[in-house]
Amino acid sequence: MSLKSILRVLGIFMIFNGVFSLVFGKAFVRPWRVLGGPIAAYVSFLLRWPGWLIRLVGAGEAVAGARVLAATQVQVAELYGVGARVYDPLLVLWNAVLTDVEDAVDRAVIEYLPPGGRVLDLGCGTGVNVGRLQRLGIPFSQYVGVDLTPQMLEVARAKFEHLPNVTFLQRDLLRDPLPEGEFDLIISTWVFSHLKERAGEVVEKARQRLKPGGHIVALMYSKTDSWLDPLVDAVGEAILAAPVPKAIYLAFPGRVRLQRLAGGMATLVVLRKDT
Ligand SMILES: C[S@@+](CC[C@H](N)C(=O)[O-])C[C@H]1O[C@@H](n2cnc3c(N)ncnc32)[C@H](O)[C@@H]1O
Repeated sequence: MSLKSILRVLGIFMIFNGVFSLVFGKAFVRPWRVLGGPIAAYVSFLLRWPGWLIRLVGAGEAVAGARVLAATQVQVAELYGVGARVYDPLLVLWNAVLTDVEDAVDRAVIEYLPPGGRVLDLGCGTGVNVGRLQRLGIPFSQYVGVDLTPQMLEVARAKFEHLPNVTFLQRDLLRDPLPEGEFDLIISTWVFSHLKERAGEVVEKARQRLKPGGHIVALMYSKTDSWLDPLVDAVGEAILAAPVPKAIYLAFPGRVRLQRLAGGMATLVVLRKDT
């Protein structure tokens, strides 16, 4: 592992540790005592501080972590390549912070995927949305997941490619054509912030693969338009993601639903293609 990779891992740790300390305060710090030794002593020392101070230090740690990452830039595929094996456990923590988000995506999938429908997943990562379909018990005739990062696709294939109607393909949403065919539901979760100002271009491409009456369900990391934005930007920097500003998702055509979740840190949009 190069020094740059070690610093990046440290930066990511600082961001997650900082954000969780900020959100949960002492409740997050206390369990670290089980590590014993000097860490337990340090934690006991921290626990004598007032809760607000622990949260403030957490915010500072997250911002410092983002600075470390900014100084050690890598490409998106490189980042997810290194992170593929730890992605699923980190996602559990992420979802624990952004509590209302998973429910909202579940509800949208239940509402907009007709039974036996065909699903395309843009930036499928480790196949989290196949897991969602299974968990919700929605029958689907075909699922195609596309992603840029081979290591994320490897994890997805190991989990789900034994299913006869599931395929994973390596594609760059910004360069490659999308898989042929007409889909009832095109889903994309936590990807648009990586596409930056080109998210609209990808939505346009996706609409061409929708059946008339089909829907795009897109969940994205977004600007909150509040005092939280510097923190949201810092976390975004860690994962090479730029929180999507309102102006971008408000311009997507055919919008039938817009939900701002987790204080605006996540936005769910549903787009319908009428003809
Ligand atoms: C935060 S993960 C989300 C994975 C999954 N959708 C989920 O909800 O867990 C972002 C994913 O987007 C993929 N990605 C980023 N930019 C991409 C692009 N231009 N084309 C295809 N995939 C991309 C990354 O490889 C990564 O797997």
